[in-house]
Amino acid sequence: MRYAHIIGWGAYLPDKVLTNDDLAQMVDTSDEWIYTRTGIRERRIAGEKETTATLAFEAAARALAVADLHPSQLDLVIVATSTPEYIFPASAARVQDYLGATRAGAFDLAAACSGFIYALNMASQAIATGSIDTAVVIGSETLSRVMDWEDRGTCILFGDGAGAVVLKGSSVPGGLMSSTLRADGSGGDLLSLPAIYHNPIPMLGPEYLRNGHEKNTISMNGRQVFRFATRVVSESIAVVVEKAGLTLDDIDIIIPHQANVRIIESAAKRLKLPMDKFFMNVDRVGNTSTASIPIALCEAIEAGKMHPDDNVVFVGFGGGLTWGAGVIKWDVMPRDISFVGREWKRARYTMARGRSRLRKFGRRIGARLLGSPIPDARLKDAEKK
Ligand code: UT7
Repeated sequence: MRYAHIIGWGAYLPDKVLTNDDLAQMVDTSDEWIYTRTGIRERRIAGEKETTATLAFEAAARALAVADLHPSQLDLVIVATSTPEYIFPASAARVQDYLGATRAGAFDLAAACSGFIYALNMASQAIATGSIDTAVVIGSETLSRVMDWEDRGTCILFGDGAGAVVLKGSSVPGGLMSSTLRADGSGGDLLSLPAIYHNPIPMLGPEYLRNGHEKNTISMNGRQVFRFATRVVSESIAVVVEKAGLTLDDIDIIIPHQANVRIIESAAKRLKLPMDKFFMNVDRVGNTSTASIPIALCEAIEAGKMHPDDNVVFVGFGGGLTWGAGVIKWDVMPRDISFVGREWKRARYTMARGRSRLRKFGRRIGARLLGSPIPDARLKDAEKK
């Protein structure tokens, strides 16, 4: 029997901070309204040159440094995201290239805010079956790019960021001990984002765009999502705790998807658990969707809240509708990484970029020698048609 242990973790938040007061300059809202209804004070916004893949790379590089794992030892890269740069290539393939994870497969996973829970489950199962031995599971979002900055019901909630964990197989029991993954597609319209946010699809024509899709931004029925979330958070925690053969008393810490403090307060009440069992950081980062659980995990570790042998619950919910949870047996103590060690590890990624450029260059030279069109030219030709 193989168990998928979390042996590394990392988070990356863009530098730019958007406060509630900043938002009050943009839409009809106030710091008081946002904070009392959501618990959010501020969120981060990706810089012009940052993308979902660059954020994901930063988080993954940090997680690999903690795990002390060379990128070439990775078997799989999963990026859970709702804001990939392209439908394909997957953001995960870009991260694979940035990392120089030369032996790894890579794919994106779309399950909205539950994506990290789903991805953790997929990677853990692949490790448990022996199909792979190592994986990096990343949640990364640039939600600011798909936000309707005129809709005060949504734009006050979301933020950008990325978080990652490195998983490794072991015969020692630990890691993901039980899980539940659920969906209810009948509620898909409660929280949605059309897949055409970069370019309208010509096939669908202007009629489609006029029909409520012209903005290609997130739309949400906040009240209904709120009601759904309070129910599924408490239910799925109860399910995974029972599946793991534990009781709620055995749980040391719960790291929920960070959407709204009131959702978690309500779930805590239903489960008769004190709020201090739940780790929250939504006040400083807002709702970062797939990234929220791994970012909160990193902060919980930094705050000294995680100890070997702790029983930890991750629980997520979101668009789809999707939801899920898992019980993790925590078994790794945080290690201090020296400055030199960290810088030396960063140098690997500069070399990986150099190798990637060389491969691209080689492909162009090869195409020229064979007289075949180089890939970019072919794309441009197609566009001209
Ligand atoms: O990752 C999962 C995704 N999403 C979620 O988890 C979101 C779940 N939902 C929520 O968190 C909450 O529903 C919101 C925070 C989005 C909204 O809070 P609410 O307490 O459900 O407010 P509401 O939608 O019932 O609106 C109450 C009032 C309305 O005014 P009226 O009709 O009572 O006059 C809204 O127009 O608050 C108004 N309102 C605002 N006022 C100031 C809505 N947004 C704002 C705002 N600032 N930003």
